[in-house]
Amino acid sequence: MPLETRPIKNGFAHELLGLRLWEPLDDSMTDKLRELWARHPVLVVRRQALSERELADFSALFGPLERVVRTEWASPAVPEVGLISNLKDGQAQPIGGLGDGELQWHSDQSYMMHPATGAALYALELPPKGGTTSWLDLAAAYAGLPDRLKQLVEGRNGVFSYVKRLAGYQVVDRVISSEAKRKTPPVLHPLVHTHPVTGINVLYLDSTTTIRIAGMDDASGCALLDEIYSFATRPEFVYRHEWQVGDIVMWDNGATMHRREPFDPTARRLMKRTTIFLSRERHIVPGGCLASEEAMA
Ligand code: SIN
Repeated sequence: MPLETRPIKNGFAHELLGLRLWEPLDDSMTDKLRELWARHPVLVVRRQALSERELADFSALFGPLERVVRTEWASPAVPEVGLISNLKDGQAQPIGGLGDGELQWHSDQSYMMHPATGAALYALELPPKGGTTSWLDLAAAYAGLPDRLKQLVEGRNGVFSYVKRLAGYQVVDRVISSEAKRKTPPVLHPLVHTHPVTGINVLYLDSTTTIRIAGMDDASGCALLDEIYSFATRPEFVYRHEWQVGDIVMWDNGATMHRREPFDPTARRLMKRTTIFLSRERHIVPGGCLASEEAMA
């Protein structure tokens, strides 16, 4: 079966048409999807009706699934599926995490030494207004950077810390288990990577976790990061997704940042997501080191 696609935002994103993801995909379709995702960091599939198991099985076609650090956000039925919602259960306990506040531009798991960089987010309940999600094309942003900034950032490592990410969460999401703390010491990752398939240079950024640039004093490093963020977050690099129930958006955190807009906290929003260890052969997968080993990096 040919794969019908519709490019969005100069091909940064692609909508996939005619797929019924609740049915098994044959090997040739799976290969086409893997190839497409390697070249286009955001894929959109609309009008899906999937169980948690089906969402997990589809996601696992692209790599092993990660069980999120925040185990309290995992689905009790299929732990590889994370719940992102502002809903409460019968005991008034939050169902999942990340509630209804605004999220700043970020890249999932940048604070991990070996991040699982693939994500699939499936919309089940949506507020009437707000709660849209946007993705930034960090290959286009790198290509458009002034040469001066390219030279300044080339070969540099950022220091990424989960503690900084937590500080931006709503209060209820800031408390983490000692196990989650143990798994998230600050790490170093290069701020520019070359994509293994396209050969193109791509920025690797996360404004919610990067605390400094290794080898630069704090003030100069933060000033450089701010300059890069303000350039990279220009509207021409952004794809903004207006969700409909049944949408799945898959994205590659090695080549994008994303953020969600706030919405009325009295409205309901329920999303289910998977997190995938994408392969280094097809995707940028930062493999950093502990920030405490900075001198050796
Ligand atoms: C996320 O940042 O992973 C969640 C995005 C969203 O809820 O739209």
